[in-house]
Amino acid sequence: MARATNTAENIAVPNDLQAFWMPFTANRSFKARPRMVARAKDMHYFTPEGRAIIDASAGLWCANAGHNRDSVVAAIQKQAAELDFAPTFQFGHPRAFELASRIAALAPGDLDNVFFCNSGSEAADTAMKIALAYFVAKGQGTRTRFIGRERGYHGVGFGGMSVGGLPNNRKAFGPMLPGVDHLPHTYNREQQAFSKGEPEWGAHLADDLERLVGLHGDTTIAGVIVEPMAGSTAVLPSPQGYLKRLRQICDKYGILLIFDEVITGFGRLGHAFAAERYGVIPDMITFAKGITSGSVPMGGVIARKGIHDAFMHGPEHVVEFFHGYTYSAHPLACAAGLATLDVYRDEKLFERTKAIEPKWYDAVMSLKGLPRVLDIRCVGLTCGIDLASKPDAVGKLGFEAMDRGFHEEGIMFRAVGDSLAFSPPLIVSEDQIDEIVGKVGKIIKALA
Ligand SMILES: Cc1ncc(COP(=O)(O)O)c(C=O)c1O
Repeated sequence: MARATNTAENIAVPNDLQAFWMPFTANRSFKARPRMVARAKDMHYFTPEGRAIIDASAGLWCANAGHNRDSVVAAIQKQAAELDFAPTFQFGHPRAFELASRIAALAPGDLDNVFFCNSGSEAADTAMKIALAYFVAKGQGTRTRFIGRERGYHGVGFGGMSVGGLPNNRKAFGPMLPGVDHLPHTYNREQQAFSKGEPEWGAHLADDLERLVGLHGDTTIAGVIVEPMAGSTAVLPSPQGYLKRLRQICDKYGILLIFDEVITGFGRLGHAFAAERYGVIPDMITFAKGITSGSVPMGGVIARKGIHDAFMHGPEHVVEFFHGYTYSAHPLACAAGLATLDVYRDEKLFERTKAIEPKWYDAVMSLKGLPRVLDIRCVGLTCGIDLASKPDAVGKLGFEAMDRGFHEEGIMFRAVGDSLAFSPPLIVSEDQIDEIVGKVGKIIKALA
């Protein structure tokens, strides 16, 4: 049995690696050569030995305010001492209402009502259930279908997985939800390679929704769900005009448009929500990750007022929507969320992201021309780099780059097959951008 040793005082290092069946991990490789972190502050993780690792992925796209921010830590500590748990089924606690109001105020248009859950996966399934129940409430119960998109990721629940479009996340799990279809993904290397920001080519791909409406009928589709920037497939920014076109077609046929902003929410694209960047108001926004900067699990759905209000009928003692989680609006998550929103506001981190975007684009594009680099994509503070795979071992280079990054170069990023994905905390300095890009260049050059 592989064992890690305690090498630093006061840091508990697991001494048996076998029991934890790690999520989305090559478990055997990890346990043979662990990439372990024990502490974090601002832009860095620290290994149990105390080695600094610059965080070029905000953990898992979530630590937008940076790690272990003092005010967030203090808010969580205070909340834990004051109110550890309160049910939000038929009871409430003040911070849940305060946080919902703050989030609704940040969201564009009449996206006024917030339903809390604990993760992005739950948020996707919650949005789908709201859509279905909304149409039942409106007397349009024939609307039961959903349209997702190839290469999309909406978490690992059966709803989100069904509308998702990453083959590895689907193929072992049976037939999924019935009544789901997919738009084509928006990537075309010939037309879009090395675009800075939203590629010019690709808005017409939204028109495929017309084809799906033609196929399934104009009264059977409840919702379309897309990410304004598809992160988990190694960053596919929306083509210019694409989301507006989707909005128009959804309006034409009375279909709800859901933006999955689990990654793009809370500043990643230089706005509270990407909806604002694209000037498109969806009917629902799902969020998670950045709401607490990753410090306490939380997710949610923001719904337009008309959707929420459609539920508010019938006898007043009766539950209007039979859905929710024990930990919906958990007090610790609410405290963390409120403190995190304060950091975003006080440090103007969304505006800063927008301002630093050109510097980030130029820096990552400087890697063009390195061996194996087929494409670099970027939007907001994100970047995806496609590497040419080894023909006999797809995914091996990506894995090696990630592993080398951690062990040799002191950097954390995501590998998706042979693509590398970057999304540093929004507090990243210009020097740290150069440091990240320098390390990545070195890693790519060193790949066999
Ligand atoms: C767009 C999107 N939706 C949903 C999810 C799922 O979130 P979680 O892992 O919190 O369930 C993710 C996670 O990366 C995501 O990127």
